[in-house]
Amino acid sequence: MLEALAAIIKGLSYIAAFVAVGTVIARASLEGNLVRPSPGPTSLIWWAGIALTLAACGTAALFFIRLGGNADSTTLDAIFLSKLGVAFALQLIGGLWIASFAGRPIAVLGTALILLSFGVVGHSASRGLLTSLTIVLHVAGAAWWFGGLFMLLLASRASDVNHFPTLIARFSRQAVWIVGLLLVAALGTASLLVEWRFDASLGYQQGLLTKLGLTAFLLALAGVNKLVLTPRLAGPGTARLWLRRMIAAELLLFLAIMATTAYLTTYLSPHDRNDSMHGSGGQVRASGPIDIIAPWAPAMPKGARTAAGYMEIANNQMIEDRLVAASSPWAEHVTLHASNMDNGIVRMREIAALPIPADMRITLRPGVFHLMFTDLYTPFVAGDTVPLTLIFERAGKVEVTLHVRPLGGGDLGGHGH
Ligand code: HEM
Repeated sequence: MLEALAAIIKGLSYIAAFVAVGTVIARASLEGNLVRPSPGPTSLIWWAGIALTLAACGTAALFFIRLGGNADSTTLDAIFLSKLGVAFALQLIGGLWIASFAGRPIAVLGTALILLSFGVVGHSASRGLLTSLTIVLHVAGAAWWFGGLFMLLLASRASDVNHFPTLIARFSRQAVWIVGLLLVAALGTASLLVEWRFDASLGYQQGLLTKLGLTAFLLALAGVNKLVLTPRLAGPGTARLWLRRMIAAELLLFLAIMATTAYLTTYLSPHDRNDSMHGSGGQVRASGPIDIIAPWAPAMPKGARTAAGYMEIANNQMIEDRLVAASSPWAEHVTLHASNMDNGIVRMREIAALPIPADMRITLRPGVFHLMFTDLYTPFVAGDTVPLTLIFERAGKVEVTLHVRPLGGGDLGGHGH
């Protein structure tokens, strides 16, 4: 449910980013020294900048809820002092900048920040600098295309009869290069992400093929516009009306591509061997690179009936994973808990799963998150090593050994798994 909401917010933020970024850069490149016959899309750009800012806040809020909803330092660090935080700041500042300077050329500076945010998080960013660069170029090219079409749609309604054909001519000349760049960057990013292993039976690659098919359709419409309708603009007839309809259809195709991209980047991973298992109610695969760092447990005080386990979990995968279950032969039940301070009293509550974003770490430590062992078969005594199995939604089973430290000894380091 929360994942579906994340995908929807992502799709909406793509639309806002494309309207804001695309329209600003296309306006700069297409209008140049032209005198605009109408105020242009300024108020729309303002709205898109604000929508992007809200979408960035929505994404951060959703992640906060998925981490248990506690405003403690670990949760806040995971959200803000991380790559997610950098992307959040870039989108927030970029969105506000564009909204503040919607009608002015310096709005372009805000677009740079927003485009950079695509190179900071996501599959491409976790793959390295080259894919960060190709994805920024890809999104920049796609945004320009979308923004350019948007400008053309507005110009097709303007009363100045010469403005529209001039813009169309400029758009056609520039599109050859920019759309070419977009496609080269798209194919480069895709090849690097799947490590040149092409297999159309995999969900992620089927998503890419869907995008490719929709883009081919888009190019076919663009071809009709350029070769059939644009040359007829000067003469009498309904070419202008048809061009307007075709551009509207192209913009709708863009929405379909963005929805596909939002699904692809939320639910599927370039490295999946069988995507259908994701989110299928606890089915597990053993494939994913998860590191468990310094797993430990405090010795149990006299009379205690429960024990706790702590560790740092590093998700090395290019997609979010979730710790969904744990078990140990030393206890009947092992559950995941979050703690928070309420008027000086520590309150605990069980959480169903702990999400760990792609290429990030989450720390289970006293006062924040912990594994709780109940109905113990034997107490934890300093020096014990307790076997524990963690189950991740994507990575599957990870075997860990908890080192029991003297009470009050804390995390003395050491690596497990
Ligand atoms: C006009 C057409 C297209 C648009 C509007 C578009 C839009 C986007 C956007 C917004 C992203 C950023 C996703 C993110 O990091 O959150 C993206 C990523 C990507 N696009 Fe496109 N795209 C288009 C065409 C294509 C084509 C034809 C391909 C080639 C198959 C492609 C391949 C990719 C790849 C591989 C990624 C990275 C996905 C990932 O992070 O897993 N795109 N695209």
